[in-house]
Amino acid sequence: MLQWTEQFATGVGHIDHQHQALIDNINQLEMLLVNFSPNKQEYQFMLQLVDFLEFYAKSHFNVEEQCMEAFRCPVHAKNKQAHATFLAFFEEFKTQYQLNGLRREFIETLHAMVSGWIMEHILQVDTQLKICIKGGIAPQNPTVSTSQLTPPASNV
Ligand SMILES: [Fe+2]
Repeated sequence: MLQWTEQFATGVGHIDHQHQALIDNINQLEMLLVNFSPNKQEYQFMLQLVDFLEFYAKSHFNVEEQCMEAFRCPVHAKNKQAHATFLAFFEEFKTQYQLNGLRREFIETLHAMVSGWIMEHILQVDTQLKICIKGGIAPQNPTVSTSQLTPPASNV
């Protein structure tokens, strides 16, 4: 099980809340994988999680990229590239599950991908934002706000 700690902090409240929601959802998914025989409610949860991840990928990434660009974060391009890689994985995952249903192997792959993402991408890339903010680098576009980042289902 993953646990959000200060290590994951980016210095931007809305981004951190989204990361926490992602961790909560991935932990719930991990519990479902222990004895994989989802009932109707659990299957529904997995469908909602896929929706959440789609929202996360499209909205959260966008806001995070704008924030990194505004603070002239040196890892901005690396972050954007990693997001594109995640989006490509997710599109392929969605195609597979829409064709074949949410099979155990798909869920295992999704869990492994997102867990790895949390431990590597958030810790190594997203947290660089905190350094840019603390370093006092003035935003290029002071109107950039993270306030629009409201998930449709932060705890599905
Ligand atoms: Fe990121």
